[in-house]
Amino acid sequence: MKYFIGNWKMFGVSKSANIIKKIIDYVKKDKKKSNYKVVIAPPYTLLQNFSKNFNSKFLSICAQNCHFRDNFSSNTGSISAYMIKELGVQYLILGHSDNRSEGDDEKKLSLKVNNALNNKMKVIFCIGENKKQKKLKKTNLILKKQLSKVLKFKMKSDNIIVAYEPIWSIGTGFIPKEVELKNTTIFIKKTLKKIFKSKKTPHVLYGGSVDGGNIKELRRIKEIDGFLIGGASKSYKKFIDIIKNYYRN
Ligand code: PGA
Repeated sequence: MKYFIGNWKMFGVSKSANIIKKIIDYVKKDKKKSNYKVVIAPPYTLLQNFSKNFNSKFLSICAQNCHFRDNFSSNTGSISAYMIKELGVQYLILGHSDNRSEGDDEKKLSLKVNNALNNKMKVIFCIGENKKQKKLKKTNLILKKQLSKVLKFKMKSDNIIVAYEPIWSIGTGFIPKEVELKNTTIFIKKTLKKIFKSKKTPHVLYGGSVDGGNIKELRRIKEIDGFLIGGASKSYKKFIDIIKNYYRN
């Protein structure tokens, strides 16, 4: 199963439902649909509306973050995994570099991942090195630390998806070299096998400047289980192009 996950970030109002409708129309008719799963993460303001109207076997709605405290608490402007789950939202992105740069450290992320899993949600856990770390050849070291500080053996690994998003590739148009990305994905899977003491690992996605053009290169890396797509997920045409070109003969 491959994942195509759209991360809208701070984009979208009610009329953006149109984008989701077009994507669902495409998936419904696609002969390849049993091979993949489409997930869209709109901002909080649209979660209730979209999860009520669009959650189906063709598409799932996802939240982009939550507070590290669960249930109810006195945190102005925040919402918890419990509150998101109540809307019928099954997926939750955690650890995106946007949020890490705004204070999501490993301690907070551990609490968030635990809360999400306790609420029986699926977590899309983002990891990735920055440009300097890459230059210093510290990628594997950083990724291992990001994974092992938050993901633990006792967690339900079936509900965890890992998204490898090198920070230097997010929104820049640059993607890693094929052999590098293949090796990094293999390294992530090896690390996950160790953490969960299991032969089966969570799905590992790639994210960062994925579009309808570079997907033709990215699809050659069979170890990648799907994609987390930012910019290109705000246009149904661009998003559908990615799926189309991934499966094109
Ligand atoms: P991008 O964003 O596709 O615009 O690079 C990816 C992400 O931040 O998840």
